[in-house]
Amino acid sequence: EKGGYKHFMQKEIFEQPRAITDTVRGHIDLDRDKLVFEEFPLTKKAFKKIEKIWIVACGTSYHASLVGKYMIEKMALVPVEVDLASEFRYREPLINQKMLLVVISQSGETADTLAALREGKKRGAKTLGICNVLGSTLPRECDYVIYTHAGPEIGVASTKAFTTQLAILYLLSLYFAKLNGKLTEIRTFLEDMLRLPHQIEIILKGAEVVEKLAPQYGNAHNFLYLGRGIYYPIAMEGALKLKEISYIHAEAYAAGEMKHGPIALIDENMPVVALVPKGETYPKMLSNIEEVICRQGKLIALTEKNCKEIGEKANEVIYIPSSNPFLKTILFTIPLQLFAYYMAVFKGTDVDQPRNLAKSVTVE
Ligand code: M6R
Repeated sequence: EKGGYKHFMQKEIFEQPRAITDTVRGHIDLDRDKLVFEEFPLTKKAFKKIEKIWIVACGTSYHASLVGKYMIEKMALVPVEVDLASEFRYREPLINQKMLLVVISQSGETADTLAALREGKKRGAKTLGICNVLGSTLPRECDYVIYTHAGPEIGVASTKAFTTQLAILYLLSLYFAKLNGKLTEIRTFLEDMLRLPHQIEIILKGAEVVEKLAPQYGNAHNFLYLGRGIYYPIAMEGALKLKEISYIHAEAYAAGEMKHGPIALIDENMPVVALVPKGETYPKMLSNIEEVICRQGKLIALTEKNCKEIGEKANEVIYIPSSNPFLKTILFTIPLQLFAYYMAVFKGTDVDQPRNLAKSVTVE
């Protein structure tokens, strides 16, 4: 049932090209340069009435929500607020009938997420679920549902559910941008999406580059993950993966915050994983990296070809294929999943069933 793989998590990481293809297929009509969201029909007029979008979730789905905020705000220019479900439900959120509540859950059974959904409904918001499990509770209770077609996810660590959530959020952002009159040319964005599964395959084919890091770094007790902008939640997701299956403490920081505290932690025993895509934040990340290096921190950098400076500075470099900044978040995620996986295998932990964790958290 593991199809020749050692663990479900490994199988699920390697299934991502197919999972993404299956998830986006029904939504892209390239012949007509159109996005199709039959399960969430919205007119321009109805969309204009939405004052604010909320996204609520837990764990990995929460990290997808944070990426979704960057995508929607940047492309569609609508304000988005993101909350952890367990916080939202107890903080009397100022949500009302003029707002849309998007609830994200792989399982559709997470107790806090369901409670947040009910709270939002009670306050009159329209609700949209993004879910991977057909017939689970979440889709039954939402006004609209969009499914990720990742297929069953067995490993407790969420992998393909996350990247398919990002794929849906990307298409949804384009859909909102179009409805809001903020996007004239959509074709390149759709073509980028359709190229993505193959780009993931390229990263997966080079998995041994990541695998060989495990014996070198497997004895570290703490890791710092750094990213900026839309890559900050990707750093958070990378840190969560490492914690949950290898039991190594890892913390993610928005790189600009380093100087406000965490820089005190850096020495030769604290490896740093830095996400350094090309683009606006590149020079800033470079200077953060300098700060790590001059404190003898070991640096694992994820970057793109032609970013020569990084190659010269970092101890390890992992190259990611290029795409638009939104979709690159998916590509940068893959090596982080692989890294957590190989570190856990190196440490001999129970990869698919890490201690103290359940696949879906149905208690509050
Ligand atoms: O099924 P859900 O997406 O609602 O689950 C939310 C979290 O419990 C889940 O993402 C958890 O954080 C994973 N173990 C992370 O890998």
